[in-house]
Amino acid sequence: MALRAEAIGHAFKRHLNGPPLDVLNGIDLQVEAGQFVAIVGPSGCGKSTLLRILAGLIDPLAGRLLIGGVPSTGPDQRRAMVFQQPSLYPWLNVTDNISFGLPPLRRRLGLADQRVNELVERIGLQAFADHRPDSLSGGMAQRVALARALAGQPEMLMLDEPFASLDQQTREDMQDLLADFIADERRTAVLVTHDIDEAIQLADKVYLMSPRPGRLIAEFNVPAARPRPADFRTSDALVVLKRDIVDSLRAAMATG
Ligand SMILES: Nc1ncnc2c1ncn2[C@@H]1O[C@H](COP(=O)(O)OP(=O)(O)O)[C@@H](O)[C@H]1O
Ligand SMILES: [Mg+2]
Repeated sequence: MALRAEAIGHAFKRHLNGPPLDVLNGIDLQVEAGQFVAIVGPSGCGKSTLLRILAGLIDPLAGRLLIGGVPSTGPDQRRAMVFQQPSLYPWLNVTDNISFGLPPLRRRLGLADQRVNELVERIGLQAFADHRPDSLSGGMAQRVALARALAGQPEMLMLDEPFASLDQQTREDMQDLLADFIADERRTAVLVTHDIDEAIQLADKVYLMSPRPGRLIAEFNVPAARPRPADFRTSDALVVLKRDIVDSLRAAMATG
């Protein structure tokens, strides 16, 4: 399922009568089915706002969003979100949190169990299947959130800095898990992150956003097949590309 953003702009009201805060300006973006796109940019440039618009959670003030060629009319099962904070239901165990990601009808018909068990296994939490979120580490909780998002077999996964609050090793493990998941299930993904290494490790294409009001100012193709091995993180290809992106980001920050 392809996604197309055309000339999207957005602003937020600040004070009752004050001028609005311009957050996004003229965003054109095409994401092909099966593609993994990352969007990087400085803090506050409008990344989360853009992702919420792409997920159908916010109506943009300007431009339009096409999902599979049809104008989006709000959030739907085809687009699932993963946030920085896993936001699991504290009173449900791991299995039940994941099955909450399934459409209600499938859950009622008992069609859910096999898919949910598969996902629990996939994230390596079989021994914690009946544990509640308060007994999980941050990394485990985020694995559950990822499994919940994938439970309903969304065509597209939208990820907003999903691993930003994890330690380095856990973050890399999660990136590898995500990369395998997306590749095996042939999903489309849009990842927002301020971590340039993460963007290059995971995506086919990295877009750079300017400081607010956010515009897409450059795009970089990552010349390597997915999913990438862990040691791609220290490869020449990654290091060279990262230098390019950092240079462009510096130039954008300097000119505002
Ligand atoms: N609901 C909102 N109401 C008012 N201002 C908002 C709202 N959401 C975000 N903003 C402002 O919009 C700007 C962009 O925010 P955001 O999209 O979260 O940026 P990023 O994710 O790149 O850090 C920030 O200045 C933020 O304070
Ligand atoms: Mg954000």
